[in-house]
Amino acid sequence: MTITLTSNGNIQLNGTIRVPGDKSISHRAVMLGAMSEGQTKIFGLLTGDDCLNTIQCFRKLGVDIRQEGDYAEINGLGFDKLQEPREVLDVGNSGTTIRLMMGILAGAPFHTCLTGDDSITKRPMDRVAIPLKRMGAKIDGRHHGSFAPLSIRGGQLKGIEFVSPVASAQVKSAVLLAGLHAEGSTTVIEPQLSRDHTERMLAAFGCHVETDHLTTTIKGMQSLKGTTINVPGDISSAAFFLVAAAIIPNSELTIKNVGMNPTRTGIVDVLKEMGANISIKESGRDEIEPSADLTVQASELKGVEIGGEIIPRLIDEIPIIALAATQANGKTVIRDAAELKVKETNRIDTVVQELSKMGANIEPVKDGMIIHGPSKLHAAAVDSHGDHRIGMMLAIASCLTAGNTVIHNSESISISYPNFFQHLNELKL
Ligand code: S3P
Repeated sequence: MTITLTSNGNIQLNGTIRVPGDKSISHRAVMLGAMSEGQTKIFGLLTGDDCLNTIQCFRKLGVDIRQEGDYAEINGLGFDKLQEPREVLDVGNSGTTIRLMMGILAGAPFHTCLTGDDSITKRPMDRVAIPLKRMGAKIDGRHHGSFAPLSIRGGQLKGIEFVSPVASAQVKSAVLLAGLHAEGSTTVIEPQLSRDHTERMLAAFGCHVETDHLTTTIKGMQSLKGTTINVPGDISSAAFFLVAAAIIPNSELTIKNVGMNPTRTGIVDVLKEMGANISIKESGRDEIEPSADLTVQASELKGVEIGGEIIPRLIDEIPIIALAATQANGKTVIRDAAELKVKETNRIDTVVQELSKMGANIEPVKDGMIIHGPSKLHAAAVDSHGDHRIGMMLAIASCLTAGNTVIHNSESISISYPNFFQHLNELKL
């Protein structure tokens, strides 16, 4: 699908929105609910394509899941009652689904095939397959098991200590979820702290997990009990409007009930360092995940250096941070972010290529990018390359231009934010 966004060069964004539920938390709520005994109720579930694919995969494994809008009810019979599927499990575009399912299925005593779209079959799966094979799972796929389609024959796992070479919550979660059905304990040690939603949610489902900064340990053979999960708004979706309000002159936006897990709030820290005017009002006292209402007013921004430990806390927000940097005074340097190359697209390439078409002064480096601001952006024909976060970043960029911005492959936005354009139109003055 191609969408044309027309701007008169004088757009402002004003109002209040509630972004859809957090994608990472929604996936995990469905997965743990499906492995639990008893009923799980999920409120605020993200209905984007990625999470719907997770639900479909578990239905194929025999789990009874009722979903209506952002509410889902899972009548779990426990992990032992998962059934060998007759069909291939299709994860679509979802890296979280395929990698976490690999961990879950590694412990299941049957055969499964996992695949996804064109992007998924290009993304590395060996980072998960290697530790799972060490635990005893049989995993094969293209290039000796490194790429999907994958086949998994699980069961009879033993716990390991795994030192992960990458700070990846998908890798950590896959190994911990396999560890849940392994003999003995499983420990994951990360180079930097990645998002900890799996650890928090396992505890909510009655499972004991020990965390000591970069080291997480789970004892095997624990069972999960169904529970109620309230999913907060996705800070990675809110990020598009946080940046929009900060860079579009005379804008002011409030975003309600945004998830504020400290492993995800790097975007707020960076925007504040750039000079953004953000106020935070705690909204949720949920014991599992904190949340807040965020208000942002347009202000002058300055360039910053972003690297090191903060990168996993804002990895998905780098495309929209790059746009913010095009409007900031001075130079922004983003480094230590080579992981961008293995996201839904190579986001170093796609961000640089598409923002350059709109007149940004941006260059790639091997582990990030350098942006010189401020630049006057102009309307152009651009492409999401099938990457939801690139599509949304370009739509926000179009608000700074005068004329018609054409975004090719804009349908990808429904992966994580199905009502994005509705919100954008409602907020435009
Ligand atoms: C996610 C982890 C991150 C993130 C992705 C969602 C998760 O990926 O980029 O969008 O839900 O665990 P990595 O684990 O590859 O860093």
